[in-house]
Amino acid sequence: MRYFVANWKANKDFDAVKRWINIFLKIYIPADDMVIISPCYIYLAYLREWLRKYKLKNIFLASQDVSEFEGGSYTGEVSANLLKGLVDFAIIGHSERRKNLNEDKNRIRRKIVLAVKYQIKPILCINKKEELETDKDLNFVAYEPLSAIGTGNNLNLREAINFKKQINLNRKIKFLYGGSVNADNIKEYNNKEINGFLIGKASLDPVSFWQIIKNGRYRD
Ligand code: PGA
Repeated sequence: MRYFVANWKANKDFDAVKRWINIFLKIYIPADDMVIISPCYIYLAYLREWLRKYKLKNIFLASQDVSEFEGGSYTGEVSANLLKGLVDFAIIGHSERRKNLNEDKNRIRRKIVLAVKYQIKPILCINKKEELETDKDLNFVAYEPLSAIGTGNNLNLREAINFKKQINLNRKIKFLYGGSVNADNIKEYNNKEINGFLIGKASLDPVSFWQIIKNGRYRD
């Protein structure tokens, strides 16, 4: 079983979201993978309703972040207690947030703790060893090298596996790779060391995302 996370970042207006799901619904054939859609916060409730209506059991939702605050008087924040029940996962520590919003290790650690407290599974993004956290409740780490994100220069399988070895990841943790994954290059990662993928640009188009899932399923 593999994990395919569609990270839409700050893309798509409401019409584009509706178009995406209408097309995806027609072409998607579930297997034992987990498909995780991570839209902007404002579409989560709509997508949750969509999943319920069509009984799409293999599709899950992730937020693209979670507040470092518990909730209450924090204008503009979206806290884990509000996301509880709406999302199953939260992407935490994406390099775009580390860079543009100065997210440091302390803040990221607080986010992990709060997500877990509210039954949301963190997907911790790291681009180097030092960014790894050792929280016992952390079950997903996404390796996203800066050189590969949005550049078209995906890392090759050997390099991704080498990094995994370097960080000496606990066997229980699922190791995802992210950075310029597309429907062609995903075929290179047919290896049990890579448990799944975080996909940005190529997930914005439902047909391309479906091809990624098909081509990225384990082959014998
Ligand atoms: P990309 O983005 O697939 O567009 O490189 C990946 C990510 O930032 O999660």
